[in-house]
Amino acid sequence: MKTLVTGAGGYLGRGLIVPFEGRHDLRLMDVVPFESPHEVLVGSVADLETCRKAVAGCDAMVIAHMASRQAGSYDTPVAPFDVNVKGTANLFFAAVEAGIRKVVLISSIGAVGYHQRKGTFLTIDLPPRSGGDQYSLTKICQEVIAREYHDNHGVAVAVLRPAYITDADSCKDKYGKEAHECNWQFIDRRDIGLAARLALELPDLGYEIFYTLGTPMAKERAEMAPIYERLGWKPQHPFVDKLKAT
Ligand SMILES: NC(=O)c1ccc[n+]([C@@H]2O[C@H](COP(=O)([O-])OP(=O)(O)OC[C@H]3O[C@@H](n4cnc5c(N)ncnc54)[C@H](O)[C@@H]3O)[C@@H](O)[C@H]2O)c1
Repeated sequence: MKTLVTGAGGYLGRGLIVPFEGRHDLRLMDVVPFESPHEVLVGSVADLETCRKAVAGCDAMVIAHMASRQAGSYDTPVAPFDVNVKGTANLFFAAVEAGIRKVVLISSIGAVGYHQRKGTFLTIDLPPRSGGDQYSLTKICQEVIAREYHDNHGVAVAVLRPAYITDADSCKDKYGKEAHECNWQFIDRRDIGLAARLALELPDLGYEIFYTLGTPMAKERAEMAPIYERLGWKPQHPFVDKLKAT
């Protein structure tokens, strides 16, 4: 299977591809140039023609880009909507033209941020409601676009909702901040990649949402049965052995 991964040079992308290596033929896309042994395409998802080139010849796609979190970039809708939302709309549009039938969207628990703030147990059928910031609003918009392309164009979509991506080896997050206690929201990048790969391998994937959380405590906060039972997913990089659980 030839699989396009967007945002592949970013923090998640660099770890997400690991479980795909040797199993999928990868095309990695990012707006920032980066080194990789795989095929690399440098360009912006905000440009439809670039998206058409990116999907050409691919069977599947993993959408993992986001507008970078430079100072102030999420203070207004401009960059988040241009990259996260328009980029996702361009990719789905180009994917349908190119005959791609399977997509993984890397969303976020932020898509149900309102419910999380209220302490609601996070089920997969909760209506998406943002936590009140541009970032989570764009994650909801991405999910709406994904649903549209499932319902009206027959694209199978797995929506993965990770929370706090942290490297299980170093216990450091994207910004290099080291954890000393285990947060229920932790998830290692490679385990997100494993979930993405397992979802793409499902023969009967529909439009399905998976909370993608890598600690045993997560099942007290979110509906984890779909990812455990439907995908047969088990985190390969747990945190509780290394960190005291809170
Ligand atoms: N980091 C977390 O804790 C976390 C938690 C939940 C969900 N996520 C999701 O994971 C995904 C990746 O996040 P990340 O933390 O790795 O972010 P990141 O900023 O490290 O990576 C995003 C990548 O997207 C690329 N990008 C930006 N604009 C682009 C464009 N116009 N065209 C193509 N590529 C572009 C960036 O260059 C970057 O390499 C996002 O969808 C994010 O919502 C992250």
